[in-house]
Amino acid sequence: MADVCVITGGGSGMGSAAAKFMPKDKLILIAGRTEAKLQKAAAELEALGYRAYYKTCDTSKRRSVRELAEYAASLGTVRNVINAAGLSPAMAKPEQLIRVNALGTVYVNTEFAKVMGKGSVIVDVSSNSAYAIPKLVIPKSAYKLADSDEKAFLAKMIKRSSLPRGEYQRSGFAYALSKNFAVWYARKSAFELGGKGIRVVSVSPGLVATDMGELEAEEGKKMLRYGAEKRMGTPEELGFAIASAADERNGYLSGVDILCDGGCTVGRRFAG
Ligand SMILES: NC(=O)c1ccc[n+]([C@@H]2O[C@H](COP(=O)([O-])OP(=O)(O)OC[C@H]3O[C@@H](n4cnc5c(N)ncnc54)[C@H](OP(=O)(O)O)[C@@H]3O)[C@@H](O)[C@H]2O)c1
Repeated sequence: MADVCVITGGGSGMGSAAAKFMPKDKLILIAGRTEAKLQKAAAELEALGYRAYYKTCDTSKRRSVRELAEYAASLGTVRNVINAAGLSPAMAKPEQLIRVNALGTVYVNTEFAKVMGKGSVIVDVSSNSAYAIPKLVIPKSAYKLADSDEKAFLAKMIKRSSLPRGEYQRSGFAYALSKNFAVWYARKSAFELGGKGIRVVSVSPGLVATDMGELEAEEGKKMLRYGAEKRMGTPEELGFAIASAADERNGYLSGVDILCDGGCTVGRRFAG
């Protein structure tokens, strides 16, 4: 049976770049909402010598994620899952950001865990925005409801997102909150799934020159002056970091977040 690597958000940006760093003996299954994008990205992979499949999936819907996981398992042994699907503040309002970035992480980790076994790995893509929220306003009690009471979780997260003034600021805060949650949930999953032999990590990119990154560049570039690199990351650099985290040879890496932002978050703390 072939090893299968599933990449949500694999039709573009970092997900698509990560696919190109996976070993060629794996079967790559990319997923996202837009079929035309997936078709194009799969053709690119095929041209590079990969066996590539695609399936439309909306990660903010549990049923859609379950169907993706079942399809992946029908193709072979699901060994690597990279959850790069996400929306940014310029793309959506708080509720959708929380549904896709936060609940999407819950659905991907829990539904794929059902079809994965020993020696497999889930990488959840978060953001360095996860580190931008003051500890005092992180609603940890809401986070704990994500598995048991989804409705209450959503209501509390949306309510917390209404703290800032201004529409973009509220979306920005909801984005940061959803990504802070993704880091928390990946860590939680690592300790729950470790016994089953499934490794879970998150990767938190800084500003990266993908379509999404360009959309957020005006706001995002304010962070670059704090960085050691003082520039945006490239999709290929992040694709490599994500693919390395998802590689079985990185078998001792679990329960952590990999902050890959050219030093921006640490630099900002140094700056006071
Ligand atoms: N670029 C940055 O500066 C940056 C910084 C930090 C973190 N990130 C995170 O990195 C990840 C990858 O982003 P990117 O920069 O590579 O942007 P991107 O090119 O826009 O990739 C995001 C992908 O997610 C898919 N997607 C969005 N909503 C989805 C949903 N509900 N279900 C399934 N797929 C969905 C999109 O395809 P469809 O629209 O066709 O579904 C798209 O292919 C995201 O999680 C993002 O939040 C990005």
